[in-house]
Amino acid sequence: MQHFNIAVIAGDGIGPEVIGEAVKVLKAIAEKDGRFSFSFTDYPWGCEYYLKTGEMMPKNGLDVLRGYDAILLGAVGYPGVPDHISLRDLLLEIRHGFDQYINLRPVKLLKGAPCPLKGKTPEDINMTFIRENSEGEYAGSGAWLYKDSPEEVVIQNGVFSRKGCERVIRYAYELAKKEGRTLTSISKGNALNYSMVFWDQIFAEVGRDYPEVETHSYLVDAASMFMVTNPRRFEVVVTSNLFGDILTDLGAAISGGMGLAAGANLNPEKKYPSMFEPIHGSAPDIAGKGIANPLASIWTAGQMLSFFGYPEWEDRIVAGIETLLQEKTSLTPDLGGQASTAACGDAMAAILTR
Ligand code: NAD
Ligand code: IPM
Ligand code: MN
Repeated sequence: MQHFNIAVIAGDGIGPEVIGEAVKVLKAIAEKDGRFSFSFTDYPWGCEYYLKTGEMMPKNGLDVLRGYDAILLGAVGYPGVPDHISLRDLLLEIRHGFDQYINLRPVKLLKGAPCPLKGKTPEDINMTFIRENSEGEYAGSGAWLYKDSPEEVVIQNGVFSRKGCERVIRYAYELAKKEGRTLTSISKGNALNYSMVFWDQIFAEVGRDYPEVETHSYLVDAASMFMVTNPRRFEVVVTSNLFGDILTDLGAAISGGMGLAAGANLNPEKKYPSMFEPIHGSAPDIAGKGIANPLASIWTAGQMLSFFGYPEWEDRIVAGIETLLQEKTSLTPDLGGQASTAACGDAMAAILTR
């Protein structure tokens, strides 16, 4: 029997509500499957912790997490703590510190999910976004000079290293090759004359090793437009950290909403633990009401099972979500239902174990 030690950072707002359901489902799956088991250890890090201690996690936080097989994260950020502190000192600290350079985000219109685009079916919206997750616009390099003076200057650098670009682009080519799908790079070389020209060059260079992969390259403005007017163009997609952040919220909007959007922060070499999280935030507007949609968190638990070598469980979770979407009886209000977060999680656990 394989045993996995999971660190759980439930975090802020709806984070604990949704991640509790992911843990519930993982326990049910482990019992049903019999080949693996889990132990879950909770870390109460986040904004409340910050208000008590002055830090988002302890100074040795990464050392504490290092020994785990994976991290499950709910959401971070809450009014009362500036977002650039809460997110940089916890979420981004883990992504960067553990070199989780792949952010894998499915953008798939599941059967039964609402879609605001007229006439679009699951065949039209079936993308896998590979977002660069370790550098780029999020590198945190810059300065704030002459603060509070009329000469004030701020500098926020984009950092694009050859190693950083090559590895994420190669990962995307490998995935496209394995799945026999097209690969689209999204960049902005016409305006960002260093970083994105470099990105495009590396996309072409790495592509020479993959003559069998059909590629497309779009500017990010046009890509945003095509995602709405012709989403079928996109299959595997590779893009920079910031563009990937923005485009995957757009992706969520066209494929059922934030409550269904999952994301995996991967260190493919497994030198460090990878982290699994829904892509939504702490949703302060609905926190504490027990109505947050846990399905994105449950799907990300499925991504974790895939990463551990049990992809059939991610498939079963996705199929289970489609069953719920079609039966409509256990959906939360964002999907037009009346079920609570816990009732939705219970229904998923029941489907997966029957
Ligand atoms: P958000 O994703 O929290 O919420 C946007 C909208 O989507 C809200 O109306 C919310 O109610 C809805 N929503 C989100 N998740 C939902 C769910 N599971 N079920 C039902 N409805 C859901 O984005 P925001 O309001 O821009 O950010 C709130 C806080 O979260 C900020 O502090 C932000 O920095 C932080 N944030 C954290 C993460 C993360 O931890 N990964 C991601 C995004 C934002
Ligand atoms: C996401 C979030 C984060 C990001 C924020 C909270 C720093 O929006 O995971 O999409 O921009 O990566
Ligand atoms: Mn985001």
